[in-house]
Amino acid sequence: MLNDAEVHRAGNSSNDRILLDCDTGIDDALALTYLCSLDHVRLEAVTSTPGNVDVKQVAANNRALLNLCGKPNVPVLIGAREPLEIPLVTTPETHGPHGVGYATLPAPGADSSVNNDAVDYWIEAACASPGELTVLLTAPLTNFALALRREPRLPWMLRKVVIMGGAFYYQGNTTPTAEWNTHVDPHAAKEVFAAYTAAAEQGLDSSKLPIVCSLDTTERFEMQPDFLTKLSEEAGCAEPEIVQASDPEGTLSKSSNPLVRYLSDALRFYFEFHRQYDQGYIAHVHDYFAAGVAAGTLEYETRPATVDVETESRLLFGTTVADFRGLWGKPANAQVVVANDPEAGFAELVQRLGALARKLNENS
Ligand code: RIB
Ligand code: CA
Repeated sequence: MLNDAEVHRAGNSSNDRILLDCDTGIDDALALTYLCSLDHVRLEAVTSTPGNVDVKQVAANNRALLNLCGKPNVPVLIGAREPLEIPLVTTPETHGPHGVGYATLPAPGADSSVNNDAVDYWIEAACASPGELTVLLTAPLTNFALALRREPRLPWMLRKVVIMGGAFYYQGNTTPTAEWNTHVDPHAAKEVFAAYTAAAEQGLDSSKLPIVCSLDTTERFEMQPDFLTKLSEEAGCAEPEIVQASDPEGTLSKSSNPLVRYLSDALRFYFEFHRQYDQGYIAHVHDYFAAGVAAGTLEYETRPATVDVETESRLLFGTTVADFRGLWGKPANAQVVVANDPEAGFAELVQRLGALARKLNENS
């Protein structure tokens, strides 16, 4: 049996440097917006990975969102343009053709930073200040696997690693057993966890192991449409933002607040998608939960485990397996989240995004 569970209370340092690697998508957009709302977080960079949509669209979404959130100077970079070994499969049916549902933003102007290599940036940022950089991955792990190939010391250099991905003894959302991020690039995920097994065998402290937010707990962050009503009230909108299941599909927000309007149009598409797949008019905001774990603002409980990924079997391709009991005789290579608090999480999100939306509106 590997060690006992650990409870992690909310509590953040004064200046958390976070690098976000994402495949912006709707819940990635929510995670990025949330990070922009936190005064104690310094966004080091936003690196783009292909997944929900192709990587150029991901980068364009990231830059447009950073402009909207008043952070136009945060570097946006591209690393890998395809998974390590298999062709890219995107999911326009889940996040919309452009990755952000029905939302639209002015196309950002040309930016040279987008052409710098994300993987080199990762390594330079981590090695320039050992023990200070937190990385949050809400996408397939392609860039992380490439970074670990180029710099095997990364596990020792990074302060904290949070990964949204996988499903353990829990139904998959892409195949009956596989979660989307690991299914898009299972070879990258396998390499990442193998690298942490090797690091653990060389004595890496358990506090440096990746914190894995898998579907088992991210699907507990089930957003209801009334989140948008609460958000509009918190943002001081003259009119409450009402989104309901009886609305015609594709109804666009008329909110006078640009951030409320953007999130409403993005999330409405996500509510419709979840309903289409018999999950109700709700939205699983996986990446937001992972962002709260990375920022130290949400509570969670973890258990150490040895994680591996299936890359051979047709039946189980992309499936993640967690050994919590040491049956494989290998050291733990991950801290898997086993409990969280969605109610507190959504209250936090309303408060932070409401304040950001109000501030942006006042400054516009
Ligand atoms: O399975 C959920 C994950 O896949 C989330 O990160 C979502 O954005 C998609 O990338
Ligand atoms: Ca994502």
